[in-house]
Amino acid sequence: MAQKDNEVREGLEGVVAFESTISHIDGTVPELVIRGYDINDIVGNLTFEQMSYLLLFGELPSSIQLTDFDAELKSLRQVPKSVLAFLSSVPKSSEPMSILRTAVSMLGCIDSESGLNDQNSVLIKLKSLIAKIPTIVAAQARINVGETPLQPDLSLSHSSNYYYMVTGEVADEKTLNAFDAVLVIYAEHEINASTFACRVVMGTESDIYSSVVAGISAIKGPLHGGAIDGSMNMLKEIGSAENAENYVKDALAQKRKLPGFGHRVYRAGDPRAHVLKRMTLDLANSRNDSHWFDIALEAEKQMASLKSIIPNVDYYAAPLLSHIGFPVILMTNVVTSARIAGWSAHILEQYGKNRLIRPRAKYTGKSGLKIHKP
Ligand code: COA
Repeated sequence: MAQKDNEVREGLEGVVAFESTISHIDGTVPELVIRGYDINDIVGNLTFEQMSYLLLFGELPSSIQLTDFDAELKSLRQVPKSVLAFLSSVPKSSEPMSILRTAVSMLGCIDSESGLNDQNSVLIKLKSLIAKIPTIVAAQARINVGETPLQPDLSLSHSSNYYYMVTGEVADEKTLNAFDAVLVIYAEHEINASTFACRVVMGTESDIYSSVVAGISAIKGPLHGGAIDGSMNMLKEIGSAENAENYVKDALAQKRKLPGFGHRVYRAGDPRAHVLKRMTLDLANSRNDSHWFDIALEAEKQMASLKSIIPNVDYYAAPLLSHIGFPVILMTNVVTSARIAGWSAHILEQYGKNRLIRPRAKYTGKSGLKIHKP
């Protein structure tokens, strides 16, 4: 529907802000298509490295291109010592997402060419962030529990090395496939709030690091990526499948928004949630531990019958990450380390065809007032 002059769309709902060749969401089907591929076809068939290449370059890599890309990402995994020193110096009570935001900002201060915005420099910086954010997340996770950060293991793939740097263990095949799939699923999702924030900052011809810091600042909110932590905490609070009905009824009576439910675009179902639900059940069965899945399933049923609201991507991603050993406080950081791939594609697209982003407001304030000098 065309927007009428001076019509306000609260939350920019339904406003089409850009042409984009990166991804398409149809909330009615519902479907998510990334660079022409349906998310159901992507998950299980592409690794995070392939997904990142697809996002950055617009097409899947040949095997030689993938080998080179993989080697380049590996060469960029190390973070400067000063960033590691910063991670060791922050109070343990700091929010992990605030630490990540500041660490990325530090990378920008350390990069003497941070302001170079030609296509090649931008690409190198984005690849560097895709490679380094997991190293930062893993280092802060280990420091937080009194362990020394681990060096990246260059013999391992992106996800395998990430898992190893967080846990100190090399993941078995099932765990690794699940973790890699989570990163792939979260990699890109059209013009969500954080991607929009990245594009707004890039639209001013600011630098890459500032743009990514804006994305991190937006995704950490509980209505966006931060909902994954909220979902896991909610499942813990519910405690048992038997308690789900009362919990959901009480929350709705108090007009609380339950994390992991609802979506601005998908009103009939989030295709990512369908895939994650299947994967979580599979993991729960293989580990003979369906505690979280049972609670989640019962709360989902209650939400469907009481309010007809669908689970979104964060709802089943939370118990899945919990199954494979990620603590709640790290979950939004994991989401961010995946979404950097999508942000990168949008930053490149914005910069390649830039026009300053500058919407208008409909003025509803006072008018005609006069200053009376005392
Ligand atoms: N729990 C309970 N009720 C919810 C809800 C939730 N998670 N999400 C939406 N609703 C209700 C609203 O209260 C509203 O009800 P009403 O018509 O009776 O007033 C109705 O559904 C429409 O919601 P609305 O607030 O217009 O949706 P929105 O498009 O502005 O917000 C979200 C979308 C994602 C911000 C919202 O669903 C939400 O806060 N979800 C929880 C946080 C979350 O999981 N975020 C991650 C998204 S991927």
